[in-house]
Amino acid sequence: MRTNYKLFIIALLGLGLHVQAQEVGLKDVLGRYFLVGTSLNQWQSSLRDFQAAPVVEHHFNAVVAENVMKVDALQPASGDFDFHHADEIADFCKQRQLTLIGHCLVWHSQVPAWFFVDKQGQTVGREELIARIKNHIATVVGRYRGRVRGWDVVNEAFLDDGRMRPSPLYNIIGEDFIEIAFRAAHEADPDAELYYNDYSMALPQKRAAVCRMVRRLKEKGVRIDAVGMQSHVGLDYPSLADYEASIDSFAACGVKVMITELDINVLPNPMEFGGAGVEQDFAYQQRWNPYADGLPQEKAMELEQRWLDLFDIYRRHAAQISRVNLWGIADHNSWLNNWPIHGRTNYPLLFDRQYKEKPVVRKIISLFECF
Ligand code: XIL
Repeated sequence: MRTNYKLFIIALLGLGLHVQAQEVGLKDVLGRYFLVGTSLNQWQSSLRDFQAAPVVEHHFNAVVAENVMKVDALQPASGDFDFHHADEIADFCKQRQLTLIGHCLVWHSQVPAWFFVDKQGQTVGREELIARIKNHIATVVGRYRGRVRGWDVVNEAFLDDGRMRPSPLYNIIGEDFIEIAFRAAHEADPDAELYYNDYSMALPQKRAAVCRMVRRLKEKGVRIDAVGMQSHVGLDYPSLADYEASIDSFAACGVKVMITELDINVLPNPMEFGGAGVEQDFAYQQRWNPYADGLPQEKAMELEQRWLDLFDIYRRHAAQISRVNLWGIADHNSWLNNWPIHGRTNYPLLFDRQYKEKPVVRKIISLFECF
């Protein structure tokens, strides 16, 4: 009887330990090295999609707004700010003690048309555009002072070949729109970290251009804390060696590296597709959507290996990296179901369409546990 009782206690303990082991979240282990974040859409941060919050609480310690802190959401009309959804995500983070990262202050995309034209519909002049940028930054960064740890101040200013993107920002102001934006953000919240964020950052020419920019800002005494590598990657791009080289290069410029929008596109894409420019939009064809009924085992294994290769890089470069951020929680949330082709079934994230963690989550945790 006594022996049975002991065995029972041991079994219970074992079960308890097992459950506990299962329950360790990504942030509990990876969080020893860097912030572990996810983007949230507005249905998640408002709890209308109530399944997301428990996953966030369990696995993540940082959050980015997928859309609601962009210019078109915050200032849809000139001087007419709408903070409803942005406040919602700020409250979501405050209630759960999550680090909130701001995305993004200056970008050529998801910016309302009025921003670049005057009342007559003519392109605005340099001084007026600078004034608008400064006003937007002062208002937004000022409002979230003390609540946002750091901002993506400028997003996607370079083309993949390293030239400046010929956006209205560059065309109207010139390349110093970057410096102007960073200075304005620092003035609005001297304690906020400031980041430059872009895609295709493994490309050597783009890497070199971003490094030059970081060095120039630093020489001028402009605050910049980190470079964000969006990391919208595929199964076979970018090359891991190039990706790793970029982490080293950015760190060598004296900034931290952030992996800011990580997801893995497993679907085939038209030849012309490249980078992560949100304007890309190709017509739907059945052949671009081969896994609508599920990912074949072989692809799932390839995907799992890709996750592990990437996280192994983050593990080895942990001293240079201050945040690894997924671009969404579960597969059905991902923008990659609709970009660059609308209406596909993609599998780019760490949780499945029921918000259930994929087996790779435990493997990633193990990778960092034996570190
Ligand atoms: C994407 C969002 O995920 C989509 O919901 C939206 O329709 C378009 O923008 N680079 C960025 C992100 O910096 O803001 C983009 O997010 C993805 C590419």
